[in-house]
Amino acid sequence: MISTRKKKLQTIILILVIAVVAYASASGPEPRYTGAPGDIGSCVFCHDTFENANVGPGSVTITNTPAVYSPGQQYTITVTAQQGGRSKFGFQLTAIDSGGNRAGTLATVSSDTQINPLTGEGARQYIQHSSTGTNATSSGRRIWQIRWTAPSTDVGTVTFYVAGNAADNDGLNRDDYIYTNRITTESPTSNVTVALASDPANQTLVAGSQFLIDWSATGISNVDSYEIRYSTDDGATFPIANLIFSTTDANITDFNWTVPDKPTTQARIRLQAATKSGSAVEVRSGRFTITGTGGPEIPTITSVEIIGKHLYVNGTNFKDDADVYMNDAKQKTSNDSENPTGRLKCKKLGKKIDRGQTVNLVVKNPDGTVSASFLYQRPL
Ligand code: HEC
Repeated sequence: MISTRKKKLQTIILILVIAVVAYASASGPEPRYTGAPGDIGSCVFCHDTFENANVGPGSVTITNTPAVYSPGQQYTITVTAQQGGRSKFGFQLTAIDSGGNRAGTLATVSSDTQINPLTGEGARQYIQHSSTGTNATSSGRRIWQIRWTAPSTDVGTVTFYVAGNAADNDGLNRDDYIYTNRITTESPTSNVTVALASDPANQTLVAGSQFLIDWSATGISNVDSYEIRYSTDDGATFPIANLIFSTTDANITDFNWTVPDKPTTQARIRLQAATKSGSAVEVRSGRFTITGTGGPEIPTITSVEIIGKHLYVNGTNFKDDADVYMNDAKQKTSNDSENPTGRLKCKKLGKKIDRGQTVNLVVKNPDGTVSASFLYQRPL
């Protein structure tokens, strides 16, 4: 009698287990497949025909998230999965702080989505498609609305992670394209803004003069680096060759710029701050003019030193393969690997100069420009 009851109980438990597993796969994925750090992976874990996420022509996106959240406020967020020709779509999303813990509260706004009853690492929640939210469609896309209530206190940057499936509606986990994406929302304190305190707008700056670029920033605990470049085409491009300054010191807020000899009436400065949460913010100056000769950059020697057997020439505008001439004789020269435009090395030349002797040095660039002579007297 007892053993029959035990068997019955086992059977009931077995049916329950099967029901739970069937429920999980038929009406939405198991938790922890958004691709967020600390999750098991993304849907590719089972939908592995194409081995990786984001290899197909479609996408999954998260939109309508606030750039900066207000603690406790509710937001309606949109998840879109799309791929032309696909008829069945699904997704799973979580919201976590930079420590990987649940950030805020996810909730449904319609029966298209559901909260997974199970949570993941850091008590994170998962919201995902429901069975009606994955009904076949002919539009090649599906849009779901979800509710996110921001954490009641400032928890820093929050990141939403999503994985989406653009499926072929064969009822199997085969031949389905998986996509992942993420987006951040900043807290009031992690929100980075930058402003130029000194703007050369409408000014005329003379090549070789100095201009103090002065800026202010908010949310500097979330600043990863600053980079300043200038444009000579009214901001259409800011080429890397026009780098003015870069630093990973978030506390720096000015730089004394020596205006380059690049005459233009279309100059602009751009300051960019890269954030630790992976975004970038920027500010641009107004348009200004640079006057100068615009001629080739002339090399200039500022100092010379002998270290061991070698002679080093320091200065500016040394091009690749510039040569040092000593008393009109060309010397074996190499550009310094750390500072190729500002330091040249002449191997063993130091040995040829006696203590107290004076030599005449010039630097010649491959474009033919030559520095003024520099008289160097080796110390006694
Ligand atoms: C643990 C394995 C597993 C993971 C992880 C998984 N799935 Fe699935 N999925 C399946 C299986 C198995 C099927 C086949 C149908 C069924 O069992 O419901 C399937 C089917 C589907 C289908 C229907 C496919 C079709 O062509 O009809 C969709 C949509 C879907 N999954 C979405 C997702 C999404 C979105 C994720 C990631 C957030 C995901 N799945 C993660 C196992 C998984």
